[in-house]
Amino acid sequence: MNYHDERQKNKIFFGFREVIEIKEISLNTYILEVSLSPELAGSAPGQFVYIMPKVQKRILLPRPLCIVDVDKNSLKMIFKVKGRGTGYLAEVRKGENLSLMGPLGKGFETITAPSVLVGGGLGVSPLYLLAKKLNSEFGDKGVKAIIGFKNKAEAFYVEKFGSLMSNVLVCSDDGSLGEKGNVVEILEKNFNGEKVVYACGPRPMLKAVSVFTLGKDAKLFVSLEERMGCGMGACLGCVAKIKTENGEEYLRVCKEGPVFDGHKVVY
Ligand SMILES: Cc1cc2nc3c(=O)[nH]c(=O)nc-3n(C[C@H](O)[C@H](O)[C@H](O)COP(=O)(O)OP(=O)(O)OC[C@H]3O[C@@H](n4cnc5c(N)ncnc54)[C@H](O)[C@@H]3O)c2cc1C
Ligand code: FES
Repeated sequence: MNYHDERQKNKIFFGFREVIEIKEISLNTYILEVSLSPELAGSAPGQFVYIMPKVQKRILLPRPLCIVDVDKNSLKMIFKVKGRGTGYLAEVRKGENLSLMGPLGKGFETITAPSVLVGGGLGVSPLYLLAKKLNSEFGDKGVKAIIGFKNKAEAFYVEKFGSLMSNVLVCSDDGSLGEKGNVVEILEKNFNGEKVVYACGPRPMLKAVSVFTLGKDAKLFVSLEERMGCGMGACLGCVAKIKTENGEEYLRVCKEGPVFDGHKVVY
């Protein structure tokens, strides 16, 4: 199946979208809002878009960004400036057009059960759309969020989570915001036998959540990050080692992921 067929089948948008807003919301961290298309309107929590920072800047590959929110007119992403791609992305201005493909990948399965959302740093961003979906499907009861940052200067969306759900625990490594500690420590202290844990953040954090939840009768879903090439399953450039019925296999983060059963990832 070629790119065109793949896009038709999975209702993937590929083209230009207008920048509605771009602004710095915390240290080196930007929110980018682009105009919607019918395909993008169907984005699920945990899916991502593959976005070309600036056509004229000669970047070879687009960069993947998680979808943070979808409303009537726009799609939102949050990114941190790390290198060339995200640096160029921070230079785009309202009214410019960006080349974008999405929604891509397999997002979070939403399950009706007491659950905890655990987000570390930028990993907080895809959990917002997930919290919104869980809220609209099952109500606020039984769902709590644990969101953590290095410090207050790097925090974002704390109030947005607070206005969405009543049970939000905030922490920071240095104690400048919320409780002092990392999200795994806060999870360990506040775990109440929830049946589903959704986690996104750096690999060591995901591994620690996996170790903690193993044997606790809780499902774990994690969103992984790998460097990407094609973004659509063709190049095998983004594989992660996952335990399957065949032993261990390399699965594509862009296609079979980015969300995987967190107890099956080989960290
Ligand atoms: C499915 C997915 C979703 C993502 N969602 C977001 C998001 O919502 N917000 C966000 O800010 N970033 C997100 N990322 C990461 C983002 O795409 C990278 O930060 C970006 O590609 C770095 O590009 P750059 O050109 O700025 O940096 P580069 O110049 O390419 O690299 C700068 C540094 O970042 C490291 N790096 C680059 N890509 C990755 C990666 N994928 N994972 C870990 N380290 C990397 C490099 O090794 C290097 O040290 C996501 C990645 C994936 C795979
Ligand atoms: S980026 Fe090409 S297969 Fe995933």
